[in-house]
Amino acid sequence: MKDKDIIFPKGFFWGAATAAHQVEGGLKNDWTEWEASPKRLAELERSGLIKKYGKDNFMSGRAADQYRLFADDFKLARELGHNATRFSLEWSRLEPEEGRFNEKEFAHYREVIRAARANGLEPFVTLWHWTLPLWVRDQGGWQNGKTIGDFARFTEKVALEFGADVQFWLTLNEPEVYAIESYLQGIRPPQKRSPLAYLRVLRHLVLAHHAAYAVMRQMLPGAQVGLASHQIHFVSAPHDPIGWLIKKLADWWWNGRFIAKSADCLDFIGVNNYFRMPVGIGRGNAPSVPKSDLGWELHPDSLKSVLLGLKHFKKPLYVTESGLADAEDKLRPWFIRETLKGVHQAIASGAEVRGYLHWSLLDNFEWESGFWPRFGLIAIDHKTLKRTPRPSAFLYRDICRANELKNAFGEDGDRDGNASAGGN
Ligand code: FCB
Repeated sequence: MKDKDIIFPKGFFWGAATAAHQVEGGLKNDWTEWEASPKRLAELERSGLIKKYGKDNFMSGRAADQYRLFADDFKLARELGHNATRFSLEWSRLEPEEGRFNEKEFAHYREVIRAARANGLEPFVTLWHWTLPLWVRDQGGWQNGKTIGDFARFTEKVALEFGADVQFWLTLNEPEVYAIESYLQGIRPPQKRSPLAYLRVLRHLVLAHHAAYAVMRQMLPGAQVGLASHQIHFVSAPHDPIGWLIKKLADWWWNGRFIAKSADCLDFIGVNNYFRMPVGIGRGNAPSVPKSDLGWELHPDSLKSVLLGLKHFKKPLYVTESGLADAEDKLRPWFIRETLKGVHQAIASGAEVRGYLHWSLLDNFEWESGFWPRFGLIAIDHKTLKRTPRPSAFLYRDICRANELKNAFGEDGDRDGNASAGGN
């Protein structure tokens, strides 16, 4: 099939995603406290990372200052051809103390949502993208079953305030990743390494999703409510029965279980994908594969595979994250193009994919790695906060506007993605 034949379904959503902690700045939550904690700083010092990247790299601080600059960013997103945007609400701003909602912050997010709409961007709003108010952390976070009820109450207030303006809701971001990294691998706050805590947190997150879904369903009958799941493309070598078995188990536990347990409470599935993972004895060394700045192997066809793997749930699918750290924007043009070809193939094979939200709109605070990995379609100068779209942002713009790949890659298109980098 020629690139110019690649046409996406009518009404497809195109855009990019962010998360509050990674872009807003000025926060006070479990992460900001963890970032500045003596234990964390000592770990960074010991591992030589402070020497390598500087201490500021690891402090979310003012981040991209999106709290202040959101309207400019949405305007830019619109100029870049987007018709949708994903962002998260910061629970610690909205409910800084248990049961006390901060109306000023609700007014802030109302403005954010309106600014998105005013720029023609359909908002996909995440209720929880990993950070906790301090009072929730202090009661044990998601290890404590009480947090489920607290989250439901928060959801109720959010639905009441923003229900009229938002149609697409994501209750939780990547609960699978959160549980494993914070409670089993111990690399993110609260840095626990406990299989029991891991299972407990996962169970509570399933229940939290159910509770939030029930609230939304009751209060906002017209809303579409889902969650963003981290999907990995597991692969085993042919004729490797052990690999085959591991793949089955991994698909069941990692890719399928949270969704299967929530299947009655999902109007759609949000799909985040970054990885392809070989399993089994025959997995060997992958032949040389392009890697992102973080060293993650880039397999643009993995998104297609995970989308097809979710087909049997018979739910609409929205890609809620897909992207790469690439400061020089060397691989992003290729990656976007190839990934979208795969998305289109998944659609042609019966997956009901209705949108693609690239990670990320802006360079941001990449959790424990800090600021150095550059995921943005738009580069941020952290000294001046100046926003500069990378060439790939213009290439993506042409795809978004045309709802086809052809304008970006057809005969008249620019294969380097540079031609239109200056203008609109
Ligand atoms: C995902 C997270 C997102 C971002 C990307 C790179 O797992 O949901 O916040 O950090 O990875």
